[in-house]
Amino acid sequence: MRAVTWHGRDDVRVDTVPDPAIQDPTDVIVEITSSGICGSDLHLIEVMAPFMTVGDVMGHEPMGVVREVGPGVTELQAGDRVVVPFNISCGTCWMCNQGLQSQCETTQNREQGFGASLFGYTKLYGQVPGGQAQYLRVPFGNTLPIKVPHGPADDRFVYLSDVLPTAWQAVQYAGVVPGGSVLVLGLGPIGDMATRIAKHLGASAVYAVDTVPERLARARANGIDVLDSTAQADVVAWVRDKTDGRGPDAVIDAVGMEAHGSPGAKLAQKATALVPDALMEKVMQVVGVDRMAALNTAIEAVRRGGTISLSGVYGGATDPMPLMRMFDKQIELRMGQANVWRWVPDILPLLTDADPLGVDTFATHHVPLEQASQAYETFRQKQDGAVKVLLQP
Ligand SMILES: NC(=O)c1ccc[n+]([C@@H]2O[C@H](COP(=O)([O-])OP(=O)(O)OC[C@H]3O[C@@H](n4cnc5c(N)ncnc54)[C@H](O)[C@@H]3O)[C@@H](O)[C@H]2O)c1
Ligand SMILES: [Zn+2]
Ligand SMILES: [Zn+2]
Repeated sequence: MRAVTWHGRDDVRVDTVPDPAIQDPTDVIVEITSSGICGSDLHLIEVMAPFMTVGDVMGHEPMGVVREVGPGVTELQAGDRVVVPFNISCGTCWMCNQGLQSQCETTQNREQGFGASLFGYTKLYGQVPGGQAQYLRVPFGNTLPIKVPHGPADDRFVYLSDVLPTAWQAVQYAGVVPGGSVLVLGLGPIGDMATRIAKHLGASAVYAVDTVPERLARARANGIDVLDSTAQADVVAWVRDKTDGRGPDAVIDAVGMEAHGSPGAKLAQKATALVPDALMEKVMQVVGVDRMAALNTAIEAVRRGGTISLSGVYGGATDPMPLMRMFDKQIELRMGQANVWRWVPDILPLLTDADPLGVDTFATHHVPLEQASQAYETFRQKQDGAVKVLLQP
């Protein structure tokens, strides 16, 4: 089959690789019809590159049609339409039963000291072949795939794999309540969707910051109060001004470790390209080379006693945090990979023709899988108005 494979920093290609096959009785094989490119995929061709291996199949936002089921699969059959969550979770262990699917005890990577395995995501998370491919082997066929109806275009459902539950969790962890205020940093797919969900759940004021004109325009068109931080760098002053000098109740960081505006760390991240991988793995895990500009903005901007919710991914182990400031401001901080299945029952009823979250028109680019290399570049460089790119095998 054809698949998007990792070849190095800024280097993904479409290669022919062996077709996946049923290995365990509860496996299913899904023929992929749409597969998103995520901001997290960009980390793999940048700062997380030391944890990748040439030939790894990328992608963790797939959906498609079941083509084959193992002998132990009772809940699905060939022809069913499914979305595949990015967490590989068993659905039956203690953690899964707590709604903490990203910490699944069946797929946890104990040797590496990391949580549940993820599709298409580094050896820290199991090095499992991903879903930017024609076919995907999906384990836990009775509990992991999300069955969706035939009919509407893939765009209606594909974001159940990652964007929707991640943004939903970001808003829940931010403790957004009807009438409350929230500032969203970053208007990539995750931040954009978080602004929509916060509004849908009744926040009375939703503010957002980015630097990319098309991303700001998209949010503005949805009634979000946006700031272009290239025009006005002082995000904190801007948002305090709008919130009686206090700051918003919550801040969602939808940027992560590759934030603009942290020149020192940017240099360190670039250096990762020049140091041997084995050494760099240690540096990443023991020291950390994150660019913390967005997180620092969040800490300053949030009101006293408010909440910060991180959905942006951070990678280093000992990044300095302004703990005195955080303690004094009595900040609550919540974070983590999204627990996809935990939020599916809340989100599914919103994926209707009325389309309250605007999923049908959320993608800016639909691209044949064969053109994935160029599509990654377009998304990475934020060219051509790219916000969300769906690959179609
Ligand atoms: N927690 C999870 O389960 C989960 C799931 C998916 C994605 N993520 C993470 O969420 C983050 C966002 O993902 P995405 O797909 O939206 O990616 P993206 O790269 O498209 O979006 C990031 C946005 O942040 C903006 N930005 C950069 N620096 C900024 C700053 N200092 N202030 C304000 N905005 C800034 C960029 O211009 C960009 O628009 C990534 O770190 C990704 O890894 C986490
Ligand atoms: Zn993702
Ligand atoms: Zn589990």
